[in-house]
Amino acid sequence: MSPQTRAPAAPLRLHRSENPWGASPRAVDAARAELLRVNRYPDPSHTALIDALAAHHRVAADRIVVGNGLDEVVLMLALALRDTGRAVVTEATFQGYPKSLEATGLDVTAVPLDRHRVGHRALVAQMERGPALVFVCNPHNPTGSVLDADAVHDLCDAARATGSHVVFDEAYAEFADDSFTSALPWAREQGNVSVLRSFSKAYGLASLRVGALIGDPGAVARTAAVQDAMPFHVNRLAQAAARAALADQAFLEQTRIRTAAARLTLCTGLDRLGIRHLPSQTNFVTLHLPGTAPEVTRQLLADDTFVRDTTDLGMPGWIRVSVGTPAEVLTFVRRLEAALTPESPR
Ligand SMILES: Cc1ncc(COP(=O)(O)O)c(C=O)c1O
Repeated sequence: MSPQTRAPAAPLRLHRSENPWGASPRAVDAARAELLRVNRYPDPSHTALIDALAAHHRVAADRIVVGNGLDEVVLMLALALRDTGRAVVTEATFQGYPKSLEATGLDVTAVPLDRHRVGHRALVAQMERGPALVFVCNPHNPTGSVLDADAVHDLCDAARATGSHVVFDEAYAEFADDSFTSALPWAREQGNVSVLRSFSKAYGLASLRVGALIGDPGAVARTAAVQDAMPFHVNRLAQAAARAALADQAFLEQTRIRTAAARLTLCTGLDRLGIRHLPSQTNFVTLHLPGTAPEVTRQLLADDTFVRDTTDLGMPGWIRVSVGTPAEVLTFVRRLEAALTPESPR
């Protein structure tokens, strides 16, 4: 067996959409260098990281705030804008939104997905009922779909017209192909629109916890005021590694290419097994196992393979599987086949 196809010895972690190729060596070196300065508090203003993000995304620095992962950014934003009173999300989406929104006392309405895609018309209709804080996951977790350009346009127009604040969570944007429409052009110029970007996925820094909100300067200022309660929340290893990761776009490009190739291998394997799966613009694929998703998830776990049953996300009968390395993908398909036919030899 070649090293590319040999089964990995460690458990297969295919449940958290991590980067199986690690992080940029430059980011790891930057974090390592900061270990020698752990006796010093990190920069509470995150100036160097914000300047790097501003240059990278061509946006003014006063339109950026960073946090300890997007999880924290979502909570800080919900706290900052809680006087909006009501929030709107889609059903079957990233659970960080309803959890943070409800924790901060916002009244949350969830609109259904439209054939596993974000139904932007239902979101606009909700905004037309009165100002709301709206979270849109694009590309969408856990279905992997993206909004088309008209939908992004309509949502940004509705934000302006209704006084709502629309947050586009683009945690998976780096994996999407050229057809993807980011809301960054609106976040650069307009009020009431923000974009979230994470260093946990394509940049491979999930453990270090860095996420950014880019957009509406008012929302940024209010979020920064919340952040004052925990001034050193993004540690110095994380700040340095994120800057170095941003500077290593070659690593990012390599991750993008490798992910697309491994995703194709995964989809081909699923096709061979006759398993329906949703088209994905991300580093995960969501597959249909009606009636058997929890049992297959259990069987896979017994075989040292972690996948995400999406029942609690509002999608029973589906599991989300991260795109691993080629060896991991081939091992996963083999283990899935065994889980589907438990009597077959391994
Ligand atoms: C859509 C989405 N947003 C945000 C997050 C949280 O990202 P972070 O690791 O930056 O907190 C995740 C994590 O899986 C996610 O899928």
